[in-house]
Amino acid sequence: MSVASLTVAAAEPQRFDILPFAGAALGAEIVGLDLARPLNGADFARIHRAHLDHHVLVFRDQRITPEQQIAFSRRFGPLQIHVLKQFLLENHPEIFIISNIVENGRPVGLGDAGKFWHSDLSYKELPSLGSMLLAQELPEEGGDTLFASQQLAYETLPETLRQAIEGKRAAHSYTARYADEVFQGIQRPQLTAAQLAEVKAVVHPVVRTHPETGRKGVFVNENFTTHILDIPADESRQILAELFAHSARPEFIYRHRWQPHDLVFWDNRAVIHLATGCPNHLRRRMHRTTIQGDAPF
Ligand code: SIN
Repeated sequence: MSVASLTVAAAEPQRFDILPFAGAALGAEIVGLDLARPLNGADFARIHRAHLDHHVLVFRDQRITPEQQIAFSRRFGPLQIHVLKQFLLENHPEIFIISNIVENGRPVGLGDAGKFWHSDLSYKELPSLGSMLLAQELPEEGGDTLFASQQLAYETLPETLRQAIEGKRAAHSYTARYADEVFQGIQRPQLTAAQLAEVKAVVHPVVRTHPETGRKGVFVNENFTTHILDIPADESRQILAELFAHSARPEFIYRHRWQPHDLVFWDNRAVIHLATGCPNHLRRRMHRTTIQGDAPF
């Protein structure tokens, strides 16, 4: 047994509650847990179960270091390093900076991350299990994040649409809308040949089965999904447009209004998310870790 796992095994239990958001389709607040302290096996198991049940967990007032965010994230699986290396936190490449702050003419993080609905890294062979976003600096206005349950979306699909996507697969590409993404007049950086090689287009089922709960969910998104395979292009466009509209219906959504030091942990296998943005003159900076998941089936 490693020193790290001995420390975790010996950690004191913490008293905390899991409070589902009243009236919301998904999401729960974890009250009383301090992620700066090591989490013992039983506490970790409760958090893991809550993540599967509620899909979005909100941990308030977490004054944790990058090392602590990385360590907590790693409890769920290996971490993924974002292809835009210029926005990785110095000495902590596991942390991807999402920020609209520009210093000396250079963006400190990805400014327009999440402006289209998406599931993180759906453009990879092994898309993300889940992501943790820790608030570092928040605007006085705006900057909310929306999460939409894709399992509810699947369960409420009109029958004709459900039949149209039965057994279908779709292509996902990081570069699908990359060039559309200009933020505060600054174009996203041109991808190098090495970066492009890291993000070759992949194919996933349109409906995926959650590997831990067995529940089915829609798994296409307007940011990265380019087309459905084996059907005419106009039919694919029509079906995707209907799926995108259905997937983001208000009754599937939890809206997160950020508070200082919030850490939000969501399940990319069950939800899509969208950053609503904030006025350009207000500063917003977030640190994201991204946990690798399984190949969708
Ligand atoms: C993301 O897409 O991971 C960013 C979400 C946000 O900044 O609110």
